[in-house]
Amino acid sequence: MEYQAKELFAKHDVPVTLGIVANTPDEAKVAAEQLGVVVVKAQVKAGGRGKAGGVKLAKTPDEAFDHASNILGMQIKGLTVNRVLIAPAASIQEEYYFSFLLDRANRSYLCIASVEGGVEIEEVAKTNPDAVKQIPIDAGTGVDEAKAREIVAEAGFPEALVEQAVTTVLTLWKVFVEEDATLVEVNPLARLEGDILEALDGKVSLDENAEFRHEDHAAFEDKAAADPLEAKAKEKGLNYVKLDGEVGIIGNGAGLVMSTLDVVAYAGEKHGGVKPANFLDIGGGASAQVMADGLDVILNDAQVKSVFVNVFGGITSCDAVANGIVGALDILGDEASKPLVVRLDGNNVEEGRRILNEKNHPLVTLVDTMDGAADRAAELANTSSNGEGA
Ligand SMILES: Nc1ncnc2c1ncn2[C@@H]1O[C@H](COP(=O)(O)OP(=O)(O)O)[C@@H](O)[C@H]1O
Ligand SMILES: [Mg+2]
Repeated sequence: MEYQAKELFAKHDVPVTLGIVANTPDEAKVAAEQLGVVVVKAQVKAGGRGKAGGVKLAKTPDEAFDHASNILGMQIKGLTVNRVLIAPAASIQEEYYFSFLLDRANRSYLCIASVEGGVEIEEVAKTNPDAVKQIPIDAGTGVDEAKAREIVAEAGFPEALVEQAVTTVLTLWKVFVEEDATLVEVNPLARLEGDILEALDGKVSLDENAEFRHEDHAAFEDKAAADPLEAKAKEKGLNYVKLDGEVGIIGNGAGLVMSTLDVVAYAGEKHGGVKPANFLDIGGGASAQVMADGLDVILNDAQVKSVFVNVFGGITSCDAVANGIVGALDILGDEASKPLVVRLDGNNVEEGRRILNEKNHPLVTLVDTMDGAADRAAELANTSSNGEGA
């Protein structure tokens, strides 16, 4: 969120005014009493807050109270506003756009800068793309002073701001590198009265793979906005993404799970258009506990009508996986209430199938092929949603 991005900016000496975070209209009023003329700003992890009516000028504390009452609880791009930032109103002369980002296509970094920033930047990029400069950054050398000067010249910052702009570019690069960000965006980077350059907004995406280096980043997570099933899966260390279909999916290895989503979507076309309900990769180990955790998350998704467990036994052999499934069903007991279609193949598959056949659990159907299993799972999801099946 903006206020968090600004905290990171301040830590690395990017020019910024922090303001005060308020959770209620009363808190907003108290903050405005301290700060004078303010802007009341919705704090959600989405851009376009200004256009959505989530950024309002308040000349008096009472106005701040009223704006906060309207903005708190508002929905912006599907996100509920739970807090507002009360920021001192700035006297803006010009608005610039500035960002550093990971450029996956070029396997490098990219700087995007424009002296025509502000809330219309997307429009500018469409109608006047030449005004939006893209400056590649060598991942090995990064941004030193010479590169910062090149960026500032290319973007066309006004003469009076060049030195400040160079310093700001260098500090933003520090944010990008030292915080392990994949995006650092400032829009607007504003020219204020008296030729002062200041970041009035900020958006930072942090690289989750670098979490272990940044204990403080955990505080930035918006637990209230997270999907409860995704939060639960994360807690258990599962690689889970909720989708909006009816067939729960468990597999081992991201590639196999991705292709399982495809075959289920394809099979679903013949069975009332049912679709995959999630992506869940249980990874290398398929112990009873991991299987139980995975099933627990999927079965708690009310939309799920059937589950397809698609495992290719490698280092973790099929008998271990079969024991994992049997163990998971024991752990879950009555909570396991939806049909399970299991397809096992690979290392020690005969023994794996034997274990499941012997157990003969009423909810479990073994199918030998991936396509066949996808078809059966889709069929079960379709009949259950018609109210005919289990
Ligand atoms: N502290 C401020 N003082 C004056 N105007 C502001 C301030 N913060 C934002 N604005 C104005 O509101 C616009 C939108 O705010 P911004 O923080 O960029 O939100 P978003 O990008 O989500 O719309 C800015 O482009 C700027 O014109
Ligand atoms: Mg903005």
